[in-house]
Amino acid sequence: MLVSLVRSLSRQRIRVPVSRFSTYNALRNNSEKDYKSDAPNYESILTESHDKVGLITLNRPKALNALSSDLFHEVNDALKKFDNDPSIGAIVITGNERVFSAGADIKEMLNQTFANSYKTNFLFHWGEINNVRKPVIAAVNGFAQLGGGCELAMSCDVIYAGETAKFGQPEIKLGLIPGAGGTQRLTRVVGKSKAMEIVLSGRTFTAQEAEQWGLVSKVFPVSEVLEKAIELGQEFAGFSQPVVQAAKESVNAAYELSLREGCHFERRIFQALFSLNDSKEGKDAFANKREPNWTHD
Ligand code: CAA
Repeated sequence: MLVSLVRSLSRQRIRVPVSRFSTYNALRNNSEKDYKSDAPNYESILTESHDKVGLITLNRPKALNALSSDLFHEVNDALKKFDNDPSIGAIVITGNERVFSAGADIKEMLNQTFANSYKTNFLFHWGEINNVRKPVIAAVNGFAQLGGGCELAMSCDVIYAGETAKFGQPEIKLGLIPGAGGTQRLTRVVGKSKAMEIVLSGRTFTAQEAEQWGLVSKVFPVSEVLEKAIELGQEFAGFSQPVVQAAKESVNAAYELSLREGCHFERRIFQALFSLNDSKEGKDAFANKREPNWTHD
């Protein structure tokens, strides 16, 4: 009784995106049992959890989810909360079915100066997502994964895309270049020639191209992307948290280290994992033909 009262009160606190975003409504209806709202009073995002997965929804639809400083501070805050929440094993960031994000808020940059952006280290706080220990999955849809929106998706660990999703780094058209890792992350994945073509022309590319190049992990029908991303998060969250964290850290090291250093790093982490109870449990469960019971230590 008390539980259902608390649940109904917390549901009222969520500002659900308008009903045209059928995926979200369907998803909520499907997962009623596991659905939990824990949203503080954010202005530009929605947060909730779905059975071990924290969901962050960018929610400035009128501005095509342009990434204002306020919005990004809220994303960072929500990421930090989910990262520190032991009941959460993975995080999904999404937009709506029409747009993930049209990039940095151009109107906010109209009066930006070099002196001010240098003094305040403008966009530095966008990098906080790289400190998140748990896996972060981007579930993207629609015609705009553009500029900072594309960079935010590329900062996630996995990208799932809807079949009509379009990506691009159009900053050149504004007299700018990508400023949140676009020239670096895109180039590492798609190679110099394609990255040059995309960044120097501002042209968009499709979800199918992104999948072919390895930028996107899988492409789904539009209405399934978010659900599939949450399912993937739940799969990650079903394993030992410190081991998943170690696996993420090791894969990320591949971007920073030489092959020799990376393999050394991986081997040291692999060896260290023998000290975890979960590593003993995993091996014992295999040997005794039973399901492991992870205690996350
Ligand atoms: N910042 C601020 N507002 C934006 C925005 C952005 N990046 N993108 C769209 N909007 C706003 C528009 O100004 C418009 O607001 P109003 O209704 O108040 O006029 C509203 O969202 C709807 O946009 P449009 O009317 O332009 O919609 P459209 O369907 O005709 O076009 C679009 C869609 C092609 C995505 C177009 O909006 C567009 O080109 N947006 C800018 C994309 C872009 O250049 N992104 C890069 C930003 S710079 C960056 O991200 C730097 C970095 O690396 C960090």
